[in-house]
Amino acid sequence: MNETMRTILHRRAIRRFDTKQIEEEALQQILQAGLYAPSAGGRQGVIFAVCQDKEINERLGKIKRANSSPRMATATSYVSREQPSIADDPKLTNAFYNAPTIITLFAPKNFLFSAEDCAVAAENMMLAADSLGIGSCYIGQGWNAFADPYGQEILKKWEIPVDHYAVMQLLLGYPRPGDKYPEGKSRKSDRILRF
Ligand SMILES: Cc1cc2nc3c(=O)[nH]c(=O)nc-3n(C[C@H](O)[C@H](O)[C@H](O)COP(=O)(O)O)c2cc1C
Repeated sequence: MNETMRTILHRRAIRRFDTKQIEEEALQQILQAGLYAPSAGGRQGVIFAVCQDKEINERLGKIKRANSSPRMATATSYVSREQPSIADDPKLTNAFYNAPTIITLFAPKNFLFSAEDCAVAAENMMLAADSLGIGSCYIGQGWNAFADPYGQEILKKWEIPVDHYAVMQLLLGYPRPGDKYPEGKSRKSDRILRF
């Protein structure tokens, strides 16, 4: 197996983070992985807003939590037992799990492929992060974090164009020391059809 395949198989969603910030050099490489992702029509319309301000990240994470109504886990249906999500544990009040670096991916509101452009960029970045020993988690419905006056104030402060919206957030940080690295769910391989 080559290094790329090993990284793809190793990457897991991380929701328990060390408080230590990631190194600037690692962040630069992760961002480069995002810039080099494919984009529909080669338009490169995704904006990567990096926030390492603890207070802003915490407030936006709490707004997002308050605006999310995930289907709650049951005994047989859950997101992760090893690294619980907000759907698994109602006691989690921050939808960003106190990750030290959060990148919000913004893309044009009136473009058919905005979500796809962000998703492929995020996957590139998650794999780059994993290859550098950094944990990541994809957070969907990015707009929820900005759905109150404080969120709107942040959008203005960051000078996000009004014709763009927050598609998703990418959480980055080192996995919490002492935690067993998550194995994740086994993969349903019967989804592959061969003809
Ligand atoms: C489109 C999308 C949206 C997601 N949204 C969230 C989210 O809001 N909160 C969260 O904790 N995890 C979120 N995840 C992460 C998934 O829960 C995670 O990828 C899944 O449980 C599989 O685990 P693995 O990434 O370790 O293989 C999202 C993943 C994707 C692809």
